[in-house]
Amino acid sequence: MITKDIHYIGVNDHAIDLFEGQYIVPNGMAYNSYVIVDEKIAVLDTVDARFGEEWLKNLEGVLGGRTPDYLIVQHMEPDHSSNIVRLMNTYPEAVVVSSDKSFPMMKQFFGEDFSSRRLAIKDGDTLCLGTHTLTFVAAPMVHWPEVMVTYDSADKVLFSADGFGKFGALDVEEDWACEARRYYFGIVGKYGAQVQKLLARAAALDIRMICPLHGPVLSENLGYYLNLYNIWSSYGVESEGIVIAYTSVYGNTGKAVELLRDELVRLGCKKVAVNDLARCDRAEAVEDAFRYGTVVLATTTYNGDIFPFMRDFLHELTERGFQKKKIALIENGTWAPVAAKKMRGMLEGSRELTFAEHTVTIRSGLTDANRQEITELACELLAE
Ligand code: FEO
Repeated sequence: MITKDIHYIGVNDHAIDLFEGQYIVPNGMAYNSYVIVDEKIAVLDTVDARFGEEWLKNLEGVLGGRTPDYLIVQHMEPDHSSNIVRLMNTYPEAVVVSSDKSFPMMKQFFGEDFSSRRLAIKDGDTLCLGTHTLTFVAAPMVHWPEVMVTYDSADKVLFSADGFGKFGALDVEEDWACEARRYYFGIVGKYGAQVQKLLARAAALDIRMICPLHGPVLSENLGYYLNLYNIWSSYGVESEGIVIAYTSVYGNTGKAVELLRDELVRLGCKKVAVNDLARCDRAEAVEDAFRYGTVVLATTTYNGDIFPFMRDFLHELTERGFQKKKIALIENGTWAPVAAKKMRGMLEGSRELTFAEHTVTIRSGLTDANRQEITELACELLAE
């Protein structure tokens, strides 16, 4: 039970290997769903396809013999929408409530758009359940176009769809920010402007509790979570420190990275995060690149371009609106080093990047001159 009338009926998924077919989730995933029991009963969102049975049992346990009047669909991505048809078949009196962009998606996914049992709502519409009046707020591209969030003015609860979600099942204790940040930048990172708009709308509401579709219900210290979301969606610097993302073929670029890390630490840098792009979880490397203000990129020249892991990484950054960073480049190339130029070229469309004056060029193995350049680069990066 979340409040006297709001109940949790979500599920934990520990069987999933990759969330959205790409993100490792070592602590599983939660698909949240809620029920508001009032004069009318509203269910908010369903769960992943594999958990329909368990979810309906959870729902039944809350209903106490009554039947739901409304199924509110805030988001049509299948981790939340896959049991719409099942609920509507189980409870033939229920009406599905969603934004008008959702119904064509329902038809596309499930071959059914409930034309005779639906209530299409738009931004600002309300739905009265008795004591609880729900206000719907359109949140397009947070993180699909049909998304809306729902505010309950009676209990002062914001049902935030994917917003404020995280990886990880709810029966595992783990740090919120770590897995919320990886989730945010992986899944919603491109849509900072849209998240900013939603935060501005949320600022006008008296919110005591946030109920997302993944991760725990947030009921204390909401300023902490709102502040992080503001930093993330405005591409601000969350943590002091420097991140180094690199690839190395025979270890020489790796040695340059070690040397730079040691120099940065020696010179007093509080945090140096190092990610070997061939071996780390790419989503961790992506969140680090957005988290810190200075990003060092080190890679080898490869087929007249840059090493594939670095190319993919830079693509993942730029497609998510990477911006407002200081960038330093280290390149390696035995006969025609072009990696620095190529990396810079890939970042050309990114806004508000400044590049360090020192770019280090290694031609195979580190030289004394390279070591000196790395020391100078470390000094430059810590000078501001
Ligand atoms: Fe959790 Fe965008 O679905």
